[in-house]
Amino acid sequence: MTDRITITKPDDWHLHVRDGAMLKASLPFTAKHFGRAIVMPNLLPPVLKVKDGEAYRDRVIAALPEGSTFKPLMTCYLTDDTDPDEIETGFREGVFTAVKMYPANATTNSAHGVTDFQKIRRVLARMEKIGMSFLMHGEEADPAIDVFDREAVFIERRLEPMTRDFPGLRMVLEHLSSREGVQFVRDHAPQMGGTITPYHLMLTRTDWLGYGNRPYMYCMPVIKRREDRDALRKAATSGASCYFLGTDSAPHPVTRKLNVVGAAGLFNSPVAIESYAQVFAEENALDKLEAFASLNGPKHYRLPPNAETITLERQTWTAPEDIRVDGEERALVHRGGEKISWKVTAH
Ligand code: DOR
Ligand code: ZN
Repeated sequence: MTDRITITKPDDWHLHVRDGAMLKASLPFTAKHFGRAIVMPNLLPPVLKVKDGEAYRDRVIAALPEGSTFKPLMTCYLTDDTDPDEIETGFREGVFTAVKMYPANATTNSAHGVTDFQKIRRVLARMEKIGMSFLMHGEEADPAIDVFDREAVFIERRLEPMTRDFPGLRMVLEHLSSREGVQFVRDHAPQMGGTITPYHLMLTRTDWLGYGNRPYMYCMPVIKRREDRDALRKAATSGASCYFLGTDSAPHPVTRKLNVVGAAGLFNSPVAIESYAQVFAEENALDKLEAFASLNGPKHYRLPPNAETITLERQTWTAPEDIRVDGEERALVHRGGEKISWKVTAH
């Protein structure tokens, strides 16, 4: 049994760090173990223009612990009215690494998202031309669609036609949550990549709802069946280069998580790389962790892997229950209070 593993420093290809006090409180957990992260643009108001991206990048960098070499990779929030020239300028100036598409009202802070997929065709064509990645919250927002089927229906209605219409556009289906998502990405690689969160690899909807309602397991896309989780575990640990690490760590104040209408999102960056290591160890696939966490993502984004390494060891520690954000404000930590079986022991 392997008890110790050294891998190229990982990157997080899907991260929410918010702004202000929440940014300051949550970013250090990512900066500690990860070289880079794709930073989500769903702020209020969202990151729409190059100047918004630049200003947000500066605030992220200002929130880093002293001496950190962590690099944020910024994204632009796509709306029906996004101007292709704005996107191209942001890309060429090195401000935007990618564009993020939320279907309107599919999840947290997505009210300004896409309502009409015809309207974004000019932007997609431009991105295809300049080689910029298109990141998707891949869920159909039509209220007639059952929440557990949103990913599969999005693939059928929206994604499959897009892959045909824009064959040169590099895409990422974010936070894969279903067997259908896993299969679609595999069938459309290398055009298509898919990120996988630590909690979609670990939880089933029975964990979430079967023993009392656990609001801190509520996220979008929602946690699905055991069969979906098992397909995700198989995909992540396969080593196939179309699957890569994206935590979707998404902190919310406790009060918003526990509200009558609770906010979707799991704050998992304090236990993320350790949780992935646990899953890979359980699947006897620790030798595939480096590909998933540190090599496949850079390959998709055509970036070099990080030069540094991190070492993980089988060692038990207890995750913090929550973190203090500002004054009395707190954010619950995913797996908070649980015994975690892997620990980062060297950088
Ligand atoms: O659960 C989620 N939370 N899913 C998302 O897509 C957004 C995220 C957030 O911003 O809180
Ligand atoms: Zn997200």
